[in-house]
Amino acid sequence: MFVAESQLQAAPALEYQNHYPFPLIPLGYAYSALEPYIDTKTMELHHDRHLKTYVDNLNAALAPYPEFHDWSLELLLTQNDVLPDAIQTAVRNNAGGVYNHNFFFSQLGKSPLKQGSILRSDIEQTFGSFANFKDAFTKAALRVFGSGYAWLSSDKLGSMQISTTANQSNPLELGLQPLFTIDVWEHAYYLKHYNVRADYVADFFKLSV
Ligand SMILES: [Fe+2]
Repeated sequence: MFVAESQLQAAPALEYQNHYPFPLIPLGYAYSALEPYIDTKTMELHHDRHLKTYVDNLNAALAPYPEFHDWSLELLLTQNDVLPDAIQTAVRNNAGGVYNHNFFFSQLGKSPLKQGSILRSDIEQTFGSFANFKDAFTKAALRVFGSGYAWLSSDKLGSMQISTTANQSNPLELGLQPLFTIDVWEHAYYLKHYNVRADYVADFFKLSV
């Protein structure tokens, strides 16, 4: 299955500055907009504290290195080994944290898997049915050990695949284009769903369709 070109270009939040100093991009919707599936307090903490920390730490790591101040998040992640050794790990972790959260929060406001959407049509063709995809994606989200993400991505030929990443790694580092993701760090769901990640994933899908 080949993903529509328009879908591949659907990078998040392109209207915001994508280089140092990286901004804390607003949610674009109310903290309460995802109730009752994701609660208001979780969204406040997740965006205003967790994401802000990644933004602040990324900017702090890059501040002494003006030669990299025009680099995008994507470049910082995919060309990380070009950076000075002293900041490679900090930039990888925090640029990943910023990219992944910007992607996740942007997606949550858009119901990207709704009937008739390009992404859903592509998914149905690739996986045979939306139910098959949902089952496979849910299993991936549940098998992430500790903190990380499950992803739907496309490769350079446009073929879709489901994968998982640990911590703040993401598919860009593997040459893949992210299309859809779920953040399964406990900070994304613990206040409402406690330790029951399966309930969070089920609620997440109700927001996404
Ligand atoms: Fe998160």
